Amino acid sequence: MSDRVYIFDTTLRDGEQSPGASMNIAEKLRLATKLEALGVDVIEAGFPAASEGDFEAVSQIAKKIKNSEVAGLARATKEDIDRAWGAVQYAARPKIHTFIATSDIHLKYKLDMSREQVIEHAVEAVRYAKSLTDNVEFSAEDGSRSDPDYLCKVFEAAIAAGATVVNLPDTVGYAIPEEFGSMVKYVIANTPNIGKAILSVHCHNDLGLATANTIAAIGAGARQAEVTINGIGERAGNTSLEEVVMAIHTRRNFLPVETNIKTESIYPSSRLVSMITGIMVQPNKAIVGANAFAHEAGIHQDGMLKNPMTYEIMKPETVGLTASKLILGKHSGRHALRSHLTDMGYDLSSEELDVVFTKFKNLADRKKHVMDEDLEAIIAEGILRTTDVFKLEYLQVTAGTTVLPMASVKLSIKGRSVKEASYGNGPIDATFNTIKKLADSDSELLRFSISALTGGTDAQGEVTVRLKENGLIALGKGSDPDIITASALAFVNGLNRLEYLRDNPLRHE
Ligand code: KIV
Ligand code: ZN
Repeated sequence: MSDRVYIFDTTLRDGEQSPGASMNIAEKLRLATKLEALGVDVIEAGFPAASEGDFEAVSQIAKKIKNSEVAGLARATKEDIDRAWGAVQYAARPKIHTFIATSDIHLKYKLDMSREQVIEHAVEAVRYAKSLTDNVEFSAEDGSRSDPDYLCKVFEAAIAAGATVVNLPDTVGYAIPEEFGSMVKYVIANTPNIGKAILSVHCHNDLGLATANTIAAIGAGARQAEVTINGIGERAGNTSLEEVVMAIHTRRNFLPVETNIKTESIYPSSRLVSMITGIMVQPNKAIVGANAFAHEAGIHQDGMLKNPMTYEIMKPETVGLTASKLILGKHSGRHALRSHLTDMGYDLSSEELDVVFTKFKNLADRKKHVMDEDLEAIIAEGILRTTDVFKLEYLQVTAGTTVLPMASVKLSIKGRSVKEASYGNGPIDATFNTIKKLADSDSELLRFSISALTGGTDAQGEVTVRLKENGLIALGKGSDPDIITASALAFVNGLNRLEYLRDNPLRHE
């Protein structure tokens, strides 16, 4: 059996199914480029039949990515497969990923099909996809809750029809590691032609076991892991890339397999995903959480000073975590900025550098030391959010112990400037009320959180809002040394994301 484990990243597809995590095309392209540099074998770029926006994003990613395979998801229908192929056909290494459910629960209540009908659909879908490309993956949705003997029959038929990868998903995050590992062994032992395909697993984290299940599956012989950065994804999320890769990397004695991942790119990739989606990484998250390498207890610190091996099983540098560098100040020039951004992994065009440089100078006038986190926020706001409908042009707020809080806002809506002023319970409430009036929005603020991007009293405030309108949920992020401005930017970003979602509704079955 090969000792290579393929990493199939679905941050752009299953990851985008996290409530509120929609990304625009510029953001998806940026992330796809980062995933390619990270060394993932497959980038699942989206679900082209879901919306025009998804189709366009997958096509653009397919045109840009050269080293990783680019996959498009498709239900087991000719229409979906045509859409997926329409988008991925431009890729240097295109892949069609088609799926149908195989558990009796799904067959009875969702598909209203017999087991034989599902096999027919699967075979027809794989055969059709194979007529378009050699590279076809078949997934048995809800595989972990399917009858193992039936699952083996479906896989056997899919491989005979041309599937080069068969995927066993734990769609609802129900499996237990020992059980899932045994199921993988059973599938390998009882699918006669399994040697002609790679067996993949795709786990969800509803019981917090996605990584454990994936590792058990690899131990049992699976050779592809479907993962997302930071573990984002539908409901409780998917298996996280960084956890699987670092478990393999750190426990070679137990798992004698290899991936192609450049581990030093893990942390920058994690930052990019959280910056783009607005989904924060919990501080105690393994590998990429803010506390993952922080030693607090005195006894641990003492041990670390004597020898890091006492309490550290991985080096922070291995995952690309370097101490936040004190970098540029207001006298730094364009050249220094470009070279630092390149070190951070951002290759910007001259026009993009112009935008970042102007924002950097503005910030450096207000904040003595501009850190990596500040630059990332500038890039998120200045470069990645270029297709915005709403833009904050001006904000003035009065607040204090004796005045009624009032906000005056100028907003540009599709390039047309509009102004308004209104009151609120506090300066942030007044700001949000005014923006809502101008944008003619009924959105409900579900969550508001604020944190400091870096240390120091002049740190930028980073605000995250969660907005809901007409059943759609979007996250918005903004940062600025002035927390009211950061709040306004976050609210406007949330409205832009709602607007994007309205035009590009996410659909998964
Ligand atoms: O969770 C799941 O079953 C999926 C499939 C489409 C692979 O995401
Ligand atoms: Zn999934």
